[in-house]
Amino acid sequence: MSSRATGPEPARTRLGEPLPDELLDAGERMTGEELRAHQLTHLRRTLRHAYDNVELYRRKFDAAGVRPEDCRTLADLARFPFTTKADLRDTYPFGMFAVPMEDVRRIHASSGTTGRPTVVGYTEHDLSVWADVMARSIRAAGGRAGHKVHVAYGYGLFTGGLGAHYGAERAGCTVIPASGGMTARQVQLIRDFRPEIIMVTPSYLLTLLDEFEKQGVDPRGTSLRVGVFGAEPWTEEMRREIEERMDLHAVDIYGLSEVMGPGIAQECVETKDGLHIWEDHFYPEVVDPLTDEVLPDGESGEIVFTSLTKEALPVIRYRTRDLTRLLPGTARPAFRRMEKVTGRSDDMIILRGVNVFPTQIEEILLRTPAVAPHFQLRLTRRGRMDHMTVRVEARPDAAPEQREAAGAEIVRAVKDGVGVTVEVEVLDPYSLERSVGKIRRIADLRDQ
Ligand code: DLL
Repeated sequence: MSSRATGPEPARTRLGEPLPDELLDAGERMTGEELRAHQLTHLRRTLRHAYDNVELYRRKFDAAGVRPEDCRTLADLARFPFTTKADLRDTYPFGMFAVPMEDVRRIHASSGTTGRPTVVGYTEHDLSVWADVMARSIRAAGGRAGHKVHVAYGYGLFTGGLGAHYGAERAGCTVIPASGGMTARQVQLIRDFRPEIIMVTPSYLLTLLDEFEKQGVDPRGTSLRVGVFGAEPWTEEMRREIEERMDLHAVDIYGLSEVMGPGIAQECVETKDGLHIWEDHFYPEVVDPLTDEVLPDGESGEIVFTSLTKEALPVIRYRTRDLTRLLPGTARPAFRRMEKVTGRSDDMIILRGVNVFPTQIEEILLRTPAVAPHFQLRLTRRGRMDHMTVRVEARPDAAPEQREAAGAEIVRAVKDGVGVTVEVEVLDPYSLERSVGKIRRIADLRDQ
């Protein structure tokens, strides 16, 4: 990061330095021992609340032969049944709410690629906890009271926009509720309002970057100092690309609507070493996705969350399908970290027996200088064989011979690094559709 002459003092002096103690909230100041005691108390309370107020939980606990009072230690949680997206779909719309409707202040829903959306609800207390954990996330990212935050996550039923919005207000920031879309105007707003922080999906940030360049504005010269990027997987290579092109700190934020929304876990700007899970509200386990066994910390698998303080929609052992592993805390020592999510088990492509994640391809493309970070993976079937074509844009300044060489280089790197043979099409700049929110990397044409 180079320093710049513009912008308010606190951003320049504090960014990248550890959060001063006086800015840590009560949860962040807990010792490991205090945290575990708090977790057990709240876990037992949540199991009881779920069992008493949600028929589905009562049925599932009874079928598994467990009662809330059987949870005497944190490890006992493993005896309780998992909850899945299908449970939420089966009880659509409000069947898993644990409080009367008059206590529900807000509803969000995830569109869901197939079938019914999943609907989630929040009491006033839930909304307040959410704002608190989001404010904590923004501070961990380097945000401070007095900063302006440009929120380009979509507003509406998606949790990104409103989640970021109320968190930024709670952190004492000034919110610019831009939402997604109208890209040219977003760039104008950033130039005119001079926010220090942007909260947006990494793929939409790339769209904004193109627009800066189109408007002849150097993206390294903007007021932005921190980007809080999440809602989709992105790699270390993407972090380098964004930080280089924009001269800001790019940090990761994780969450999912079923558990709360954004703000379940956040990367600290001073370490950028994975995301601290706000474990005083969300209890993590990592399980083997095939055997359902709980794995020890450090081993990779599917992350599963149990809410500890939620009222309207308590979730017990919610299967996220997100693949990662738990690591010890660093910048917030009492909270464990989760490694950057590699991808969802649903997004894993099995190509002739080899597992492939879009993030693996992203890493390779971003190490290839002649191509841009805009790509799509097209799956087709030829005879009985599945086939993958990596469609990636050339960088605007790449010469024709560089483009050709890049194609061959990518084929080789994917073969060596991932173990599959793919075809690569290096396309003209700006030929792929741009993201305005969450990007879909895979175009599956196998059944067409
Ligand atoms: O995407 C919540 C969110 C909004 C998180 C804004 C961060 C920022 P859903 O629409 O329910 O909620 O989608 C949740 O998105 O299970 C992951 O697969 C993926 N996801 C979210 N954050 C990350 C991340 C929001 N930082 C699903 N890295 C999750 C990788 C992420 N994947």
